[in-house]
Order: sequence, then C-alpha cells, then structure tokens
Amino acid sequence: MRNHDLVERSATLRGLDARYFTDRELFARILDEVFYRNWLLACHASQVAAPGDFLTLTLYDQDILIARGEDGALNAFYNVCQHRGHPLARGSGHRKLLVCPYHRWSYALDGSLKAAPNSQNVPGFDKASICLTPVRVEDFLGFVFINLDPGARPIDDVYPGVREAMLELCPDVTTRKYAHHHEADEGCNWLTAVENYNECYHCKACHASFARGIIDPDSYRVNPFGDIKVLHHSSHATRSADAWYDVSGADYGSFFLWPASAIQFYPGGVVNSYHWRPLAVDDVRVYRTFYSNDGSVDETLQKVIDNDRATTFREDLDLVKNVQRGLKSRGYRPGPLVVDPAGSIDSELPIQKLHEWLREAVGQT
Ligand code: FES
Ligand SMILES: [Fe+2]
Repeated sequence: MRNHDLVERSATLRGLDARYFTDRELFARILDEVFYRNWLLACHASQVAAPGDFLTLTLYDQDILIARGEDGALNAFYNVCQHRGHPLARGSGHRKLLVCPYHRWSYALDGSLKAAPNSQNVPGFDKASICLTPVRVEDFLGFVFINLDPGARPIDDVYPGVREAMLELCPDVTTRKYAHHHEADEGCNWLTAVENYNECYHCKACHASFARGIIDPDSYRVNPFGDIKVLHHSSHATRSADAWYDVSGADYGSFFLWPASAIQFYPGGVVNSYHWRPLAVDDVRVYRTFYSNDGSVDETLQKVIDNDRATTFREDLDLVKNVQRGLKSRGYRPGPLVVDPAGSIDSELPIQKLHEWLREAVGQT
C-alpha cells in the first residue's frame, strides 16, 4: 500500500481545520451558538452567600451581575442599567440596592426598579414595568452556573447523572467554600485551551509533576460521560513517593461540562475547578479555583495551589500559546487524531468529542 493510501485511510479523524481556532467570523458564530446558549461556571455560591452580596463578571462582550436577594435566592442579570445603558456595578461587594452611578436609578436585588430621580414628574412613567434583564442562574452543588439562553433546559437535564457521580466521588462537595483563585490570559483560542485540558496524551511528556504527584497514569481514563456533552476523567491516586500530599481517600476525577467548565477532584477530595471565558479569537482567560471546607487555605491546600501553578498550570500556558502560533502557520495541515477507543491516558478520544460538539453547534463550515 502506498503511503498516500495509508494517509487517506486514517484521515477520517483529523484535527479540526485551523480556521476554527483563528477565523473571526467563525469565532463570532461560536460565541452566539456555544457561549451564549450553554451553562457556564460563573462563581461559587459561597462568594455570594449573604443577602445583598453581589459579584460581576464579563463573558466576552456581555457584563453579568450575580446577586443574592433579600429572600436568599440567587439572581443573575445583565449588568446594564435599563435607563441609558451604564453598567450598574463593578467588582464585588454588598449592597441593599444596586444604584447606577450615571443618574442614580436604583434597583432591588431582585432586579426591580425602586427609584428613578425626577421620574414622578414624567407623565405615564411606569416604574413597575422596568426591571433588569435576567440571566438564567443555577446553584449546582454549590457551583454557580449561568446561561444567557432564557429557554435553556435546567442544568440537571443538560448534564444528567453528573450531580450523582460528583456526589459519589465527593459526598461532602456541597460543604466546600471558595478559597482561592488565580487567572491568566492564555494567548490562544478557547478551544485550544479546552482541548489541552481534556487530553492527557501530553501528560507524561509535559506534566511530569502531575503525572507522578497526583494521578496514576496507568489507570487514568478519559471518556465521554454517557451520550451527553461531558468528558469524564478518572484515575486512582498516585502511588508514587512524589505525591504532592497525603492522597489517601477518594480517587481522582474530573468532569468537563461542555463548553468551558471543569470541576475537578484531586485525590482525597481536594476540590478545584477550571473555567474559561473567551477574550478574542486568539485569547482566552482561564480561571483556576480551589475550594476548602471553611474557605481558608491550609498548608496542604497551599502546597497543592503552589505546585499546580508552578507546574501543570504554567506548563499548559506555554503549550497552548505555542499551539496557537502553530495554528496560524501556513504550513499546518491537521494531523490524524490518536483515538484509542479504550480512552487511555494516551487517547485523543476527548478531542474527537469536542470537535463533534463544536461542529454540531456551528455546522460544517
Ligand atoms: S444609565 Fe443608569 S441611571 Fe442613567
Ligand atoms: Fe496539560
């Protein structure tokens, strides 16, 4: 058989064409079809625990505000005043009313307009009809997710079985509180970063510390979780003397929830997460968050944070930036994926799934 035929035969599962990672028009479609209509990790419930607590975040060009109402309910809105469009709040904090800095219209924590200066002198001004535009929000085991699609199905319908699987791995996950996060702009397309997160084919070559200190590479598996858009990573804890900490107890597991959130359990129930928000076609911000039982960072958690940041996190930043440069190369032809159906650590099955899900959302272009 000629080489050419061999290449043709294995061509069925090639990497996505580079334009999925570099083309601005396609990126705009992906924002609309993927990021503005799926559940995305926003924050942790412990960050907005008390009535009046709020925080803001930006999803590409959309500013969002999450607030705990007087009744204890979690509310999310577009962070935009319904008067003439000024953002209502920046950062995070605690308020009884959300007061727009521009003309001081004030809103209750449920989004209803409370007061608008001089509006009593405007005939027919109907305060009761004015409300901040809501965004779907759910507390999923303490993790707060938002969805910009008002018609989105509830999170348990979109990711059935994940709640139970997480509780099985970490029965007390709901007792966790936000403890620490750091973030970085990765200088790559969001999918470059998400692909890199979801395949461990590069782990032995590039993440020696993680491969020895956290997981057991021989037992590492990553597989689709049923037929939903979730990738499930699992592994026994490392048995190496290079373990980062006492890893006895529960195994390693991670649940990547399409398109850009991953809740991860290091051995022994060390809960952490990744999520990504696109900044441009060739830039994405990654948020790396760690949780603890009382919100403090003890010595062990500090060691995990420091080790992770100095090794896995740092190593991935370099890898994805380099790949993004390669994707712009005039010489790049997407190669065949190394898809091992058993889903071993050296399989790119998760890449195949991510590509399927993206094509499903934006079509074959
Ligand atoms: S834009 Fe907010 S009060 Fe005018
Ligand atoms: Fe990596």
